[in-house]
Amino acid sequence: MSIKQEYKKLKELINQHIYNYHTLDKPTISDLKYDKLFDQLLMIEEENPSLVTPDSPSQRAGSAPLDKFKKAKHRMPMLSLQNSYSPDDIHAFDERIKKFLGSDKPVSYMCEPKLDGLALELVYEKGILTQALTRGDGVTGEDVTLNVKTIKSIPLKLSSPKPPEIFEIRGEVVMHKNDFLKLNEKQLAEGHETFANPRNAAAGTLRQLDSKVAASRPLKFYGYAPGFLENIKFKNHQSFLKKADAFKVPNLLNYKIKKSPLLRFCKSAEEIVQHYYFIESIREQLDFEIDGMVIKVDDYQLQEELGFIARSPRWASAAKYKPSQETTLINEIIIQVGRTGALTPVAIMEPVKVGGVTITHATLHNESEIERKDVRIGDTVVVQRAGDVIPEVVEVVTKKRPKTSKPFKFPKKCPVCKTNAVKSEDEAVYRCSNNVCPAIIKESLKHFVSKKAMNIDKLGEKIIESFWDAKLISNYSDIYLLSKEQILTLDRQGEKSADNIIKSIDNSRNPDLAKFIYSLGIRFVGEQTAKSLAKYYGNIQDFLNAKEDDLLQISDIGPKVTTSISNSLKNQKFVAEINKIINNGVKIKSVSSKNTSKKLAGLKIVVTGSFENLGRNEIKNMIELSGGSSPSSVSKNTDYVLAGEAAGSKLEKAEKLNVPVLDWEKFEALLKG
Ligand code: IVH
Repeated sequence: MSIKQEYKKLKELINQHIYNYHTLDKPTISDLKYDKLFDQLLMIEEENPSLVTPDSPSQRAGSAPLDKFKKAKHRMPMLSLQNSYSPDDIHAFDERIKKFLGSDKPVSYMCEPKLDGLALELVYEKGILTQALTRGDGVTGEDVTLNVKTIKSIPLKLSSPKPPEIFEIRGEVVMHKNDFLKLNEKQLAEGHETFANPRNAAAGTLRQLDSKVAASRPLKFYGYAPGFLENIKFKNHQSFLKKADAFKVPNLLNYKIKKSPLLRFCKSAEEIVQHYYFIESIREQLDFEIDGMVIKVDDYQLQEELGFIARSPRWASAAKYKPSQETTLINEIIIQVGRTGALTPVAIMEPVKVGGVTITHATLHNESEIERKDVRIGDTVVVQRAGDVIPEVVEVVTKKRPKTSKPFKFPKKCPVCKTNAVKSEDEAVYRCSNNVCPAIIKESLKHFVSKKAMNIDKLGEKIIESFWDAKLISNYSDIYLLSKEQILTLDRQGEKSADNIIKSIDNSRNPDLAKFIYSLGIRFVGEQTAKSLAKYYGNIQDFLNAKEDDLLQISDIGPKVTTSISNSLKNQKFVAEINKIINNGVKIKSVSSKNTSKKLAGLKIVVTGSFENLGRNEIKNMIELSGGSSPSSVSKNTDYVLAGEAAGSKLEKAEKLNVPVLDWEKFEALLKG
């Protein structure tokens, strides 16, 4: 097999695995095996740059941030739907269609959910994804191709041996509800602001100028209409969706809920109304948010005859659902202090049932949100659950506002420690500036014990609260001095639960360095960054001595994160606390000492070819950890070339330039010194 054939096969194989994982949700190989395949692909691409095609999975990683998005025209304008039809209007819609067509014959419709996200157009030319545009003003959209390429369920190439000249498909970009909750948790854990609802999270991600950030966020796309087409035609909407499916472009044709299809082919207004109520009844169980049902004339010939009125098609209609909203009274507005010191206003309300769940609290986000909505204590407000989960205040019912009410004054001091709160230029939130504020420490404790951190599962949030109130713990290190006797002094703590707590603390006494660093709750240091830090420094003492210059060397760590880490490490109390944790009997695992020796200090070693047990990226990491560097091309200045199986042009170049070549054995010998 030629290298070109091998490359093509590998690309197709990886694309199939991406489809299995991200579209079908049914992976068939382990992550490790997948990483190996991917590594192999990268190797071939590095050796043979001319082979790289735009549909290669390597093109999904995201690239350097943009200054702004380019604008581009849609080949066909992107219109919108006429909204706000109630089920009663469904009959009228059907009648109007028949009247316009001048026939009594029944018309068939496809009914599908109205997804609550952002409209997006994908352009495939000769089967290759060449452009992705937002709707913009309908005529001109923003070119968000780089971000869209990071959405794994969107194929970079249509699955078809003879793709059409041009295939445009429009659809909605959404974030699944569970992904949204996870993302917000991550944002919070890393000290970023959270998103108000899945739609905002999807919009914020799609309009990211940094596609690497977009790549780290879980977006989905569902196609629902053709755009401009060349060399391909469809008889009806069903066959269009079927084709999209065959092309492996995600859509909702085969989406099932309670074993019933979500999309329904309807032959009468009665059937449409039935489906309207069905979708409403299962609305909360869907993976994504919807705000209505779209009814479309199925036959494309009829669609053409029906045409458009103003900016909407006459052949479609949106039957909207009322969001689950209620009104209630705000009794109080309190300010919560988060782990990063963020002051978050929260409305405390008369309990009210929204979509089957009783709510009493709703976040008001920040000062400008309160000002924008002019929310005041004593107001009657409309509330709903964003993402079907997070309660939020939609608007004030001003008619019911008490005459004496005054605008809410956002406090400029931390309500807990009374230190001045500060707001940085690029943020909407005020933060308590006292890093030993008791509220911040208490929240940090909750983070410290959480699952992805030290994982002390028997010390849940409630127990932390009660231990805190009883002054049993006021710092991380206190956790490791807790005795069973102390725990037993508290109400509602029996022998067994006290034993369990102690056991669960003891189980956490030997953490990985990465988990330990993550537990410390340094702002912007999420799990991934903590892993990179652990890998680079190898042990806790070296990490504590980290200098800014050093930190900036680590890939994936930018200036903002660097400043945050170095500020924490300059804080003597913070470092003293870490040493106390260690003194109280926590032994942090170092990353294997072999990797932390500096045997390759200053050496430039180019890695080429493939190796039996390790991927090339892993080898490059090993070299970096041992003090060397691993540039991607061979030059006079290269110290060694490490060549594995099937090494190509780089090996040749090394021989030409007289650069010493190492095989794996010699490389290992060099590592061991
Ligand atoms: S079809 C000519 N189908 O609703 C417009 N739109 O107001 C054809 N939407 O901008 C649109 N789910 O973002 C269609 N199943 C669906 C939809 C859908 C959501 C959005 C779309 C559009 C807006 C229309």
